[in-house]
Amino acid sequence: MSTQSNSSANIKRITTHQLSAMKNRGEKIAMLTAYDYSMATLIDGAGIDIILVGDSASNVMAGHETTLPITLDQMIYHASSVVRAVKRAFVLVDIPFGYYQGNSSEALRSAIRIMKESGAHGVKVEGGEEIQESVKRIISAGVPVMGHLGLTPQSIYKFGTYSVRAKEQEEADKLTQDALLLQECGCFGVLFEKIPADLAAKITKQLSVPTIGIGAGAGTDGQVLVMHDMLGVTKDFNPRFLRRYADLESVVDQAVKNYIADVKATDFPNQAESY
Ligand code: KIV
Repeated sequence: MSTQSNSSANIKRITTHQLSAMKNRGEKIAMLTAYDYSMATLIDGAGIDIILVGDSASNVMAGHETTLPITLDQMIYHASSVVRAVKRAFVLVDIPFGYYQGNSSEALRSAIRIMKESGAHGVKVEGGEEIQESVKRIISAGVPVMGHLGLTPQSIYKFGTYSVRAKEQEEADKLTQDALLLQECGCFGVLFEKIPADLAAKITKQLSVPTIGIGAGAGTDGQVLVMHDMLGVTKDFNPRFLRRYADLESVVDQAVKNYIADVKATDFPNQAESY
């Protein structure tokens, strides 16, 4: 993708070319999830490089235990809300479970629906060798694809746990091969979730496309966190890799308690707040 200008404010949009250039000059890529217009407006305004409309929406927006239940229609709804907000960031959307694993035609149809109906800039899929036909087919239609390896939450029932992946040599070798294959298929980037830092750093050096990590150490080309986790909304989720940048749970709790108290005391609204 070449550099595009956003007409409303002359802000340069982040493109796959710019992400690649960031890797080449050693500038780290900052990525966060968002699922709605208001939060996407805030994080885009703050300068985030990539907004991931993750299927973690299934957890943090809908309250499901896993990412498996979310539908393609629901992902498109979240993605289009984000796209309407964003002036600069690259908007990447997860193709949810069950909409690309079947065959490459289905994968292409799903990717095209996301691009056409939400206006997003690319899609993310979980897996390596086993989904290579789908990846190639989507890319051949002109849709940028990011691969996702390591802990792939759509396969949670195969793994059985959310623990660190690829600690054994055999799995580390397979993951390395998958990352190289995804690059060969034309992926513009590869995301590593919960793998040893040394392994992520080693593969990052081998790849010419940018890598993004979550729980994969400091050696990847960029980092991603789920926004609700880093803002301290999801207080019960405390993996080692998570750094909290705010305590929104306490902020919201206190604000709502103050509001309730004011309403009960007939202190709100006051005269200045009335017509
Ligand atoms: O769905 C998601 O939010 C993700 C991140 C955990 C990388 O895939």
